[in-house]
Amino acid sequence: MNWLRWIAVGGVAGVGGYWLLRYLQPEESSLVLNGSVVVITGASSGIGRALADSFARRGAKVVLAGRRAELLESVRQQIEPYATDVVAIPTDVTDEASLQALVSQTLDRFGRIDVLVNNAGVLVTGPLHTMTADNIHQSVRTNYEAAMMLTQLALPTLLAQRSGKIINIASVNGRVPNPTSTIYGSTKHGLLAFSDSLRRELFGTGVHVISVLPRWTRTELVPPEILATVREMDTPEFVAERTIDGLLKNLDNVYFGTTMTRLLMWCERHFPRVMNLYWRMQMTPQYLERSRLKN
Ligand SMILES: NC(=O)c1ccc[n+]([C@@H]2O[C@H](COP(=O)([O-])OP(=O)(O)OC[C@H]3O[C@@H](n4cnc5c(N)ncnc54)[C@H](OP(=O)(O)O)[C@@H]3O)[C@@H](O)[C@H]2O)c1
Repeated sequence: MNWLRWIAVGGVAGVGGYWLLRYLQPEESSLVLNGSVVVITGASSGIGRALADSFARRGAKVVLAGRRAELLESVRQQIEPYATDVVAIPTDVTDEASLQALVSQTLDRFGRIDVLVNNAGVLVTGPLHTMTADNIHQSVRTNYEAAMMLTQLALPTLLAQRSGKIINIASVNGRVPNPTSTIYGSTKHGLLAFSDSLRRELFGTGVHVISVLPRWTRTELVPPEILATVREMDTPEFVAERTIDGLLKNLDNVYFGTTMTRLLMWCERHFPRVMNLYWRMQMTPQYLERSRLKN
């Protein structure tokens, strides 16, 4: 009765495989955006502004944070007609007292935080030896340290609620480090590692961490030389919509880019020396000229 044994083994393997796949699939999020409180840093322009708009259209109460108070106010006025509630809190994410004020003012007004979006970011490009100490400090504080500080300040609330989402806006650059984006790429790489570690640390608490990895997106952050030469760019609205889609699907990572981008990430992970060769070929005089110091 050999064939009977094979059928039994096949059946058990099939059922086991099915349950394993189900286990590995992310569960749909139970988050209801209507009425939920969303805090967004860097909401005065670009992706943050688009996220504020997309969350507001879904009925969320939105807290806008950023340094430029007048721009925050214009975003507030733009989304106010359809937002359930929206408030602008001028914030410098590199200043700890400012982050504390952001959390306490949000809690005073709404009593909870359902989604925290660490989006504020700055980009400096150019060879490392041409950077100033301030370029390094500002990038690390804004892109990396601020996300950890703000998350740490908001976490007691999220843990007490036994629910919450933390969205960290990283970059493809955090997985595919390229020359002349050394500081920016390192901060985004760190942010991705922070997300991955914290997601595991928070397993079973009801709080979930999501990394978003945009590619070039048409915003103020992008230097004019890149805007003029890179043909394919996403819009901030597209990034915002896909981010919310990923949030509702409970994804761990929301990736942007083409099949080529995914291939580069895969090569980076498994064949870093091939990527060394790739970047040696990319480092033409035109490439270096295009990415000389920008801040
Ligand atoms: N655009 C791209 O190609 C691209 C690609 C991958 C990832 N990203 C990431 O996406 C995020 C959003 O960038 P974006 O493209 O939308 O560029 P953006 O339009 O320049 O937005 C950056 C935002 O960060 C805020 N910010 C900078 N420093 C801050 C500080 N110290 N305190 C508070 N807010 C601060 C700015 O607001 P204030 O100046 O008003 O403070 C601004 O609202 C960044 O993390 C960026 O790294 C962008």
